[in-house]
Amino acid sequence: MSILDRFRLDGKVAVITGAGRGIGAACAKAFADAGANVVIGARTISELESVAAEIEAKGQKAKIVKLDVLNQQDRENFINAAIETFGRIDILVNNAGGFPPKPALKTSIEEFEAAFRFNVSTALACSQIAIPKMIETAGAGSIINISSIAGQEPSSQFAAYGVAKSSLSFLTKELAQEFAPKIRVNAIGVGSTKTEALNTVLTPEIEQTMVDLTPMARLGEVEDISACALYLASPASAYLTGDIIQVNGGLNSLNMKMPRAFD
Ligand SMILES: NC(=O)c1ccc[n+]([C@@H]2O[C@H](COP(=O)([O-])OP(=O)(O)OC[C@H]3O[C@@H](n4cnc5c(N)ncnc54)[C@H](OP(=O)(O)O)[C@@H]3O)[C@@H](O)[C@H]2O)c1
Repeated sequence: MSILDRFRLDGKVAVITGAGRGIGAACAKAFADAGANVVIGARTISELESVAAEIEAKGQKAKIVKLDVLNQQDRENFINAAIETFGRIDILVNNAGGFPPKPALKTSIEEFEAAFRFNVSTALACSQIAIPKMIETAGAGSIINISSIAGQEPSSQFAAYGVAKSSLSFLTKELAQEFAPKIRVNAIGVGSTKTEALNTVLTPEIEQTMVDLTPMARLGEVEDISACALYLASPASAYLTGDIIQVNGGLNSLNMKMPRAFD
């Protein structure tokens, strides 16, 4: 028996929200590399099809489900697809989320609440559906919430996103207490990672500033995050629950220079 066997997911089934690209797609591919079959959901089917083709090329199975994570019927269909297709569910990654930075005085209460709904309520709602099915079909489970450095370190213009991700991190700790020892719940505090979402705010100058402010002297790659997700999903982390692993290149503050209100 090698320690590497503990990172295997053979025979296990993972469901991943927001898995058409970026961090969610990388998690699906990492889990498939470790032997899992996966259910992948997002709103754009063509992107899910590309990810599924890559997973099938690795010799694993991928079930595609059209998912708007804000819709309860979609969430139920998505998680039920794991049972209907593969007969079990072992791993849930609550990855779909996000919200752009915005000055606090320009953030409407509706936007503030929408950021909370998208990043936090959806993770609770998916967990509520998945947990009884994990117990019923696998006797145990691992939930991984994709949080952010913005939920760990405060910054100007991150009132909505930062509070939402900080709540997601604390929800992780709450659920870990409630569902131990059968269901482990952990989160990843993701730092700036090269995805389409980050690209929307990157210019060469902004990217250079971010790199300069990052101790590890580069931005994150999606595989930096999916390697941690694989650890959290697998028996390698069997004694870890309620933790937020910060995968952020050594940051202890955000690496974006956000203007203050009176600049
Ligand atoms: N990249 C970073 O620097 C960074 C840093 C910290 C935290 N994060 C967190 O990491 C997570 C993933 O971000 P990413 O950078 O990988 O983003 P991304 O590359 O834009 O990918 C987002 C994925 O989520 C899906 N999605 C968006 N809205 C959805 C909805 N309503 N229902 C279902 N799926 C939805 C997208 O597909 P469709 O649009 O087709 O639905 C896509 O597949 C987010 O929670 C984000 O807050 C990212």
